[in-house]
Amino acid sequence: MVENLSGIKGLTPDEVKRYLKSAKRFIKDQKPYCPPSFSDALRGKTIALLFFEPSTRTRASFEIAAKNLGANTVFVGSENTSIQKGESIYDTCMNLVAMGVDLIVLRQNNEALLHEICFRVPVPIVNAGNGMGEHPTQALLDALTLLDALGRPQTLRGINISIIGDISHSRVARSEVYIFAKLGATVTIGGPTECLPFESWQAHVAMNRRDAIRDADAVVCLRVQKERLGSEKDQDRSSDSVSNRITHFRDHGSPAVGAWSINARVVETEMKKNAFILHPGPVIWGEELSEEVGQSSRSLILRQAGFGVAVRQAVLLELLGV
Ligand code: CP
Repeated sequence: MVENLSGIKGLTPDEVKRYLKSAKRFIKDQKPYCPPSFSDALRGKTIALLFFEPSTRTRASFEIAAKNLGANTVFVGSENTSIQKGESIYDTCMNLVAMGVDLIVLRQNNEALLHEICFRVPVPIVNAGNGMGEHPTQALLDALTLLDALGRPQTLRGINISIIGDISHSRVARSEVYIFAKLGATVTIGGPTECLPFESWQAHVAMNRRDAIRDADAVVCLRVQKERLGSEKDQDRSSDSVSNRITHFRDHGSPAVGAWSINARVVETEMKKNAFILHPGPVIWGEELSEEVGQSSRSLILRQAGFGVAVRQAVLLELLGV
């Protein structure tokens, strides 16, 4: 049976902790690190990076991680590939496997397709984002960053984490709620009403920023996922609230995040003294977060980006059985 990493939802807390423990080996002085003894760990392996949605951090950090471990990489995107001639993502994967690819990192916008690919393609698949579904390696690196900043080995018990902004369109929010809850944290989500999920999540819901962040030890800010507003998934769900949401986006464009954005005044007046700020990126400065706060000592944003390499090294090694 091939092991995949399709999401955090299906992992046990022990499996989450195993990934985190493995990734921790690859951090030194709060930066990603590959010990010399690992530089040939994946020699002879080929990792395919299939990105059919834009990416900077995830794509680059998987490539750096693979190369740090001695693997070859091949990148396939939508531009200038046979996807443009109508080839399916499944057929693309199978052709790469026929060429000797050992593991596929896949970002694409169809939630259900990921599960079909995981079931049918005979090499490990890492989900690098499937539409509004999950983004498991982002959640792992966010948890690793927070544990490191809090000086905790493996548990977030007693820690309050708030995720604010566009929750419903965010695969990062989904994976984070799963991972933070599995590590014992109390999680709160909050954002404009049109950006809150319809279904219930394993999280408290706050209807205004002050309530959302007042008790938080860490606040994760999320941008509005403009590329997903009124998306197929929204439209597939035929309830009044869905149709209200689609009408809202059609008539008003992006939701108003101003009431949820974080700047220095908000930090000063509404947040706990030592609370951390996280953001998976890309950040739209001045919308969900001010640059001043993003560059302050409480911000972990660039540390998150660096820890992404450590987590992806651990994931590649784990799934390739090294
Ligand atoms: N956080 C994240 O997934 O960033 P990218 O879209 O740049 O990969």
